[in-house]
Amino acid sequence: MTTPIPAPIPKAELHVHIEGTLEPEHAFALAARNGIRLLRFRTPEDLRAAYVFDDLQTFLDLYYELMVVLRTEQDFEELADAYLARAAAQGVRYAEIFFDPQAHTARGVPIGTVMAGLGRALAAAPARHGVTARLIMCFLRDESAASALETFESARPWFGEPIIGVGLDSAELGNPPGKFREVFGLAQEAGLRRVAHAGEEAPPEYIWEALDVLGVERIDHGNSCLSDLRLVDRLVDEQVPLTVCPVSNVLLQNEDSLYEHPLPILLDAGLLVTVNSDDPAFFGGYVGDVFDAVRNEPELRVGLTELRRLAANSFKAAFLSDEERQAYLKEVKNYRFA
Ligand code: HPA
Ligand code: ZN
Repeated sequence: MTTPIPAPIPKAELHVHIEGTLEPEHAFALAARNGIRLLRFRTPEDLRAAYVFDDLQTFLDLYYELMVVLRTEQDFEELADAYLARAAAQGVRYAEIFFDPQAHTARGVPIGTVMAGLGRALAAAPARHGVTARLIMCFLRDESAASALETFESARPWFGEPIIGVGLDSAELGNPPGKFREVFGLAQEAGLRRVAHAGEEAPPEYIWEALDVLGVERIDHGNSCLSDLRLVDRLVDEQVPLTVCPVSNVLLQNEDSLYEHPLPILLDAGLLVTVNSDDPAFFGGYVGDVFDAVRNEPELRVGLTELRRLAANSFKAAFLSDEERQAYLKEVKNYRFA
């Protein structure tokens, strides 16, 4: 008789870049299908061996380089479907997925191609994987404000479904949130939700600016808030969620090690912290693996109570209706650890 593998705790994932879920084997398969040669790498193993990063920029260089293999609707559909299958197996019931349209349109792939592929995978996901997923369109902050505005306008047909919000990602330092004031204002007028990466590499001023100038409802990463206690008070008072990515932080050398990660300090401060994968194919694990990693690092003091709190926080921080949220929170409450 085989012992059944216990189901992982139900959770939402709120910080995952779909392009960061492209596994090396899949990248090579897409390259072959599309007649593209990945010149610097001979095999998926070669590619994986290059996944050693000094900082955010060295990661981003490879992340953008690998995207050349994504060309057709089918490519984007397969990419999202593969993520949703893996996430579902790790207990993800709901996901708000980032995507970077400018990284594709700049290569001549129309936004309609990206949306058709991602849209099909998301539409099939509840029946196929038991996961509901929505999209957050990110602007590349190292591109111009004009490019963000153009991208925003080109995506209007998909506002509401499947695009529920806008975000800000890519190289943070030197690209403060205020640069994107106008496009975030338009997003608010269009009824979209607003988030931004802030405080991953940059100081707390970037988090203030994301809140006060862009009006964001959630901060992606946010680690640097801890050097500004007035900011921590504000984030606690307003229960602004932080989508923290502990494994990403260590691999991009924004934190020295997992055991020194500030996760327990953020939790003790009363912040609405969630735990996420960021770019799981590059950082060696999906969100369930990140939950396991923090659980298995004694210095982080994540016991079963904290794991349940993190799972509950993921639904509290999500852009769900009250009814949806209550249903998911009930699943978390009723979950029994093996
Ligand atoms: N930070 C900023 N931009 C990104 C990231 C990240 O961790 N991953 C993909 N784009
Ligand atoms: Zn990110």
